[in-house]
Amino acid sequence: MSKVKQRYQCTLCGAISSKWSGQCADCSEWNCLEEAIAPATSVAQSATAAATNARYGGYAGGSGITNASDVTLVEQARTKTGLTELDRVLGGGLVEGSVTLLGGDPGIGKSTLLIQSLAFLSQTHRVLYITGEESLQQVTLRARRLNLPEDNLRLLAETQVEAILNHAATEKPQMMVIDSIQTMYTELLSSAPGAVAQVRESAARLVRFAKQTGTSIFLVGHVTKEGALAGPRVLEHMVDTVLYFEGDQGSRYRVIRAVKNRFGAVNELGVFAMDEAGLKVVKNPSAIFLSRHPEPVSGSVIMVTREGTRPMLVEAQALVDTSHSNSARRVCLGLEQNRLSMLLAVMHRHAGIAMFDQDVYVNVVGGVRISETAADLPVLLAALSSFRTRPLPSDLVVFGEIGLAGEVRPVANGEERLQEAVKHGFKRAIVPTANAPKSPIKGLEVNGINRLHEALELIN
Ligand code: TYD
Ligand code: MG
Repeated sequence: MSKVKQRYQCTLCGAISSKWSGQCADCSEWNCLEEAIAPATSVAQSATAAATNARYGGYAGGSGITNASDVTLVEQARTKTGLTELDRVLGGGLVEGSVTLLGGDPGIGKSTLLIQSLAFLSQTHRVLYITGEESLQQVTLRARRLNLPEDNLRLLAETQVEAILNHAATEKPQMMVIDSIQTMYTELLSSAPGAVAQVRESAARLVRFAKQTGTSIFLVGHVTKEGALAGPRVLEHMVDTVLYFEGDQGSRYRVIRAVKNRFGAVNELGVFAMDEAGLKVVKNPSAIFLSRHPEPVSGSVIMVTREGTRPMLVEAQALVDTSHSNSARRVCLGLEQNRLSMLLAVMHRHAGIAMFDQDVYVNVVGGVRISETAADLPVLLAALSSFRTRPLPSDLVVFGEIGLAGEVRPVANGEERLQEAVKHGFKRAIVPTANAPKSPIKGLEVNGINRLHEALELIN
């Protein structure tokens, strides 16, 4: 393929220049020029668009203006991936021609998950696993150790996108894994693999291939601890689905969250357990994020969250301790730190409990991240329980959002959460009044509250 003319584009103002410099000549910002590819000729582009239109009823544009009523909907066929929890986060299975980005820390289990799924799919579909990180021996060794079917599991060790696309054009896989996108490069750019421009352009070419041929592609993306998502993050808008591994590697549980999904619900969680036989789906994860203390301990509260489409019992732990520095620490794992500061301020203003001179640490057991506000009330009660060294009853569950005026607001699907708690043997609940069930739930004493201070009185 012929070399394309190099050019550089400012990531902030979009100005183009023919050579690199430290400062953008247009907006005068520093370190914002990035290698870019000159736009392809219109002939090549329209050919791509036409192919995409033919397959997807023209969502890439170019087919003229249409009445919504004239658009015929094609049922998206879903293919089971062999792992029900992966199907769940994908929105019910893998969609033909879709591109899924699977991100996560190194060593969390991305390659393991995808080799398992691809080996399963290889029994009924043409698949291709492309490794840019591990050798063919390493990939095969893992597959063999996991006892995966190998006969039709096609492997390729390659990092150049053009070569990959050539192989794929002859092999015609229906599912393809690129492990990882950070190791891939296109010959159109001279920057090193892993550079943002390389990652973006390589992914763009693979996405185009997926849409033209109907191949479902998984892109593996490494995310570093510091949240330097430079690589994978720039791809989020290009792909159909973005899945991220969550959870700490110390625990055997692995949680995958859909943060974007054109074919399903976002925030859906898939739960797996990692053992010596690879990743196994956890069919009923509702009680795995509890540490089950033999006797009640202070600073621990069980909440019922509903991340995605099912309720889960999750333990929030807090440690409140006298601070020895000028500014007290607020540390959150699995929750948003600003929200904790806000909740502590509400507790001071509306319940008269001050923690200015206390360090407050909050952790969600199991490394799962809670993004919903139903965690507000449990987090505050956990902090208070630790502050007073007074355990809460071990058969108590709590949920509810807290407002700045000290009010306790209802959350969605209250009754479903309470039912889940009863199933696991909990006998008491403190919840927003509007979430209290209309007819009593057998075996559960529900305390509905409207204001934060009512909750504090209940646990006094
Ligand atoms: P891997 O899939 O290589 O991670 P990634 O591709 O995200 O970097 O997972 C590697 C980790 O998983 C490694 O620490 C070992 C562990 N593991 C198991 O515990 N059991 C297994 O069966 C396999 C294959 C891996
Ligand atoms: Mg890997």
